[in-house]
Amino acid sequence: MKILVVYYSLSGNTALIANTIAKEIGADTLELKPQKEIMKSGFMKYLWGGGQVIMKKKPNLLPFIKKVSNYDLIFIGTPVWAWNFTPPLNSFFSTISITDKKVAVFCTHGGNPGQTLNNMRKELIGNTILGEIDFLEPLKSDTQNKVIATQKWAKSISLLHQKHQQKSPD
Ligand SMILES: Cc1cc2nc3c(=O)[nH]c(=O)nc-3n(C[C@H](O)[C@H](O)[C@H](O)COP(=O)(O)O)c2cc1C
Repeated sequence: MKILVVYYSLSGNTALIANTIAKEIGADTLELKPQKEIMKSGFMKYLWGGGQVIMKKKPNLLPFIKKVSNYDLIFIGTPVWAWNFTPPLNSFFSTISITDKKVAVFCTHGGNPGQTLNNMRKELIGNTILGEIDFLEPLKSDTQNKVIATQKWAKSISLLHQKHQQKSPD
């Protein structure tokens, strides 16, 4: 079983969840990196980043060599920006076609995830969504418990995937 964790992270929270999943269930990771990253500190990042989401921007990403179609189970994660998934995910969804896969989605946020996970599900129509989870900024509070919750969730998704495979082997 080949598993991939695709994610974007500006300040490390989503990366912590992504890397915890990958370590727990032996997945590869694919970090999406825009060619031009927004500033990481200061209030301007909220205006700039939020504006990019509202304008549905699709920034150019640095090239990546991993082939998403080679994987059976794909986790996709993002920070929440302006109650939605981030522009690098928008670029990813619009350039990489994902169909007939088992998928699980996750996000990290500052207290109001809005429609982020629902909007990701909409981008992934044509796949089987095995689960979703969100975390309030794991680097800021309760980090260890959130890591443990992530490990449990990742294992449960992986088991669910195995059950699906037993039911309908290719
Ligand atoms: C541009 C921008 C917009 C944000 N908008 C929201 C939001 O709408 N709702 C929310 O709960 N958190 C929001 N946040 C907080 C981030 O979702 C949160 O800090 C997240 O854990 C950051 O993930 P990262 O460390 O992987 O980049 C925003 C942060 C930024 C930089």
